[in-house]
Amino acid sequence: MRIKAAVLREFGAPLSVEEVDLAEPKTGEVLVRLAACGVCHTDLFTASGADPSGYAPAVLGHEGAGVVERVGEGVTSVAPGDHVVTLFSPQCRECVHCLDSRTNLCLAIREQQNQGFLPDGTTRLAAGGEPIRHFMGTSTFAEYTVMPEIALARISPEAPLDRACVFACGLSTGLGAAINTAKVAAGSTCVVFGAGLVGLGAIAGCRLQGAERIVAVDLSAERLDLARGQGATDVLHGGPDTVQQVLDLTGGLGADYTFEATGIVAVMRQAVESARMGWGLATICGVAGKGETLDVVPRFLITGRRVAGSSFGGVKGRDGVPQLVDRWLGGEIDVDPLISHRLTLAEVNRGFELMEAQDGIRSVIVFES
Ligand SMILES: NC(=O)c1ccc[n+]([C@@H]2O[C@H](COP(=O)([O-])OP(=O)(O)OC[C@H]3O[C@@H](n4cnc5c(N)ncnc54)[C@H](O)[C@@H]3O)[C@@H](O)[C@H]2O)c1
Ligand SMILES: [Zn+2]
Ligand SMILES: [Zn+2]
Repeated sequence: MRIKAAVLREFGAPLSVEEVDLAEPKTGEVLVRLAACGVCHTDLFTASGADPSGYAPAVLGHEGAGVVERVGEGVTSVAPGDHVVTLFSPQCRECVHCLDSRTNLCLAIREQQNQGFLPDGTTRLAAGGEPIRHFMGTSTFAEYTVMPEIALARISPEAPLDRACVFACGLSTGLGAAINTAKVAAGSTCVVFGAGLVGLGAIAGCRLQGAERIVAVDLSAERLDLARGQGATDVLHGGPDTVQQVLDLTGGLGADYTFEATGIVAVMRQAVESARMGWGLATICGVAGKGETLDVVPRFLITGRRVAGSSFGGVKGRDGVPQLVDRWLGGEIDVDPLISHRLTLAEVNRGFELMEAQDGIRSVIVFES
C-alpha cells in the first residue's frame, strides 16, 4: 500500500514527508493504522546525525498508538480492531530475560531492530524500489506501520489514542523507574532531577508508590509547576548547590530514592550524591552523550548508596503498558498536562522545533482517521 510517512533522508536536514510503499505483514507481523505519535528527543537525536548508530533512509517515530488493521500468519495475541501502543522495547515472553522478573530487556530481535530491519532481516518500507529502514522497530511517523507482534501492547479500547501514545516511551519510562526499578517504598523521600516527560512520570510513579515527600529539580519554573501537578511536594531550581539543598531538606542525610531524568552526567552525579547513606538508591534514566562517563567517588557506594539504570522503566511492555494505561483511565495518572501541542504529520519538523525550544512537554502528531 501507499502511505504518507516522515522519512529521514539526510542527517541534519528536515524530515521529508512523502509517499512510500508499505508491504503486507509477514509471519508474526502486524499492520497497524497509527492514530497518534509523540515526538521525542530520540527521534531528533537520530535525525540530527548526533547518534553514531543512526542510519538513513529510515522512517522515524517510536511513540505510536493505533489500531490493528491486519495480521500476518501465526499472530495470535492481537486481532484487527485492537487498540495498541507500539513498543521499541519488545516482550517475546520466551527469552531468558523475558522469563526473569529482574529485567525487561528482551533479547529476541535486538540485532535486527538496531540495524533497522524487521526480525527476518528485511524491511517492509520502500520508495522507488529502494528499501527504507525501520527505526527502533516502530517507524510510527507514518499513517501505517508493520511491526512484530511481540512489540505491540494491546490496551483498553476506552483509552483515547491521542494521549495513550505517551505511554510508548517517556511516561512509562518515568513511571516504571519509580514503580519497577526503584520499587519506591511508601512513606519515603524521593528527589527527581529533570521534569521533562520522563521526570514527570517518575514523580507520578513516586506518588503512586505512596512516597511522602517528592522533591522535583529543574531549571524551568513552568516545568516545576507541572511537577507539582504530578505530585511533587517541594521544588528546587537546579544548579551546583542542589546536593547541599537536598541535604538541607532531608536532615543532612539525603533522600531514600533519587531519579535522574536529564541525560546530563553532572546531574547523574548529583543524583548519586543526594541519595542517603545506608540505603539510598539513585536510578539513572537519562541517556548521556557518546563517550561520557559518570563520575562517582567510591566512598558514596561503600557507605551504602546504590546506583541503578533503567531502560523503559523496567516495564515489560506487553504486560506493563496496558496496566499503566488502566491506572490512567482509573484516574491515578494525569496525562493531559503532558501534551502541549497537536500537529499533523506534515508538521513533524515543527515538533522538533518546539522540542528544541522546550515549548511544552510533548507534541503529538494526530493522524486523520
Ligand atoms: N531510559 C530510557 O529508556 C529513556 C526513555 C526515554 C528518554 N530517556 C532519556 O531521559 C532523559 C529525559 O528525557 P525527557 O524526554 O524527559 O527530556 P527533557 O529534555 O524534556 O527533560 C529534561 C529536563 O532536565 C532539565 N534539566 C536540565 N539541566 C538540569 C539540571 N542541571 N538540573 C535539573 N534539571 C535539569 C531540563 O530543564 C528539562 O526539563 C533524556 O536523556 C532521554 O534521552 C531515557
Ligand atoms: Zn521516546
Ligand atoms: Zn524476550
